[in-house]
Amino acid sequence: MSRIKRLAVLTSGGDAPGMNACIRAIQLTASACNIEVIGFMHGFNGLLEQEYLMLHEQHVNNIIQRGGTILKSARCPALEQAGGPAKAATVLQQLNIDALIIIGGDGSFRGAMAISQHYHGQLMGVPGTIDNDVDGTDNTIGFATAIDTALDAIDKIRDTADAFERMFLIELMGRHSGYLSLAAGIAAGAEQIICPEFGPLSPDNLKHLIIPMQHAQLLSAKASYLIVVAENSYPGGTTALADDLTKASGIECRACILGHIQRGGSPVGADRILATKLGAYAVEQLLQGASLMMAGEINGQAGLYPLKKTGDRTKAIDPFLVRWQQQIGSF
Ligand code: F6P
Repeated sequence: MSRIKRLAVLTSGGDAPGMNACIRAIQLTASACNIEVIGFMHGFNGLLEQEYLMLHEQHVNNIIQRGGTILKSARCPALEQAGGPAKAATVLQQLNIDALIIIGGDGSFRGAMAISQHYHGQLMGVPGTIDNDVDGTDNTIGFATAIDTALDAIDKIRDTADAFERMFLIELMGRHSGYLSLAAGIAAGAEQIICPEFGPLSPDNLKHLIIPMQHAQLLSAKASYLIVVAENSYPGGTTALADDLTKASGIECRACILGHIQRGGSPVGADRILATKLGAYAVEQLLQGASLMMAGEINGQAGLYPLKKTGDRTKAIDPFLVRWQQQIGSF
């Protein structure tokens, strides 16, 4: 058993619904083991600037249902500067912090790995990002909610697209991953899905998108036509893609960028449960002596995965759904 007296937690990178539920689980689990909990504000920035609060039960009451993060989140360029990781380690040591939990994505975990070069305490990651692009866990905290948020919006666009018999391109977040777009696109019954995993898209190879669009229009079987597009899939973005498709096909295509709406909102049940499980598991595993690991879930079971491997490769999107989508999307 590791003798942890004081634990710290921070949320880093793009916020995700369920981060609060995870902070709550960490505080409650640690308190039950008589461990003090510090919350650093604004991601790694609060660690470098010593901006923190002692987290007590009253701070985590009534937050399981809240989106965002009570600790705030941010990216932290200062941690990437020379001397940044060493400074972070010094602060952790000065504040007598035995272990630090980072709730975030693989970029945040890279920051944790850099700190580990200078820090003698334990470090643990918990995957929190709507992108679901972290290797070593089936789902990240926030992904399930983001799918539902995107679906709610796409279903509404479907109504107006149907009424006006229009084609819409709907851009979803995901940085360089098509996970969210594939999941939401499948669940929305999108006619086509475009994501980086399907290969590069450029103004010169729009034909394979246009042929099925024209086919659908000729058949007139569909009153609406939706294409879900993962961000960063096309030079100039989805609005440029809609313009280029309109010019090349003669069919009016409208673009709709969903943007940060996908990061907000009350976490769905699945995210609250995942966040609670992984937060509690992270504390338990730290007490068992684990370090430089991510607390994730594979096939329903909580498990550890080396922190340094979480961003090694692009997490593969479901090959079955990819194959099916490509079959029906290219009729
Ligand atoms: O990583 C989460 C995410 O929402 C990505 O999907 C998106 O590319 C990025 O963050 C946007 O970052 P920012 O809020 O800093 O613009």
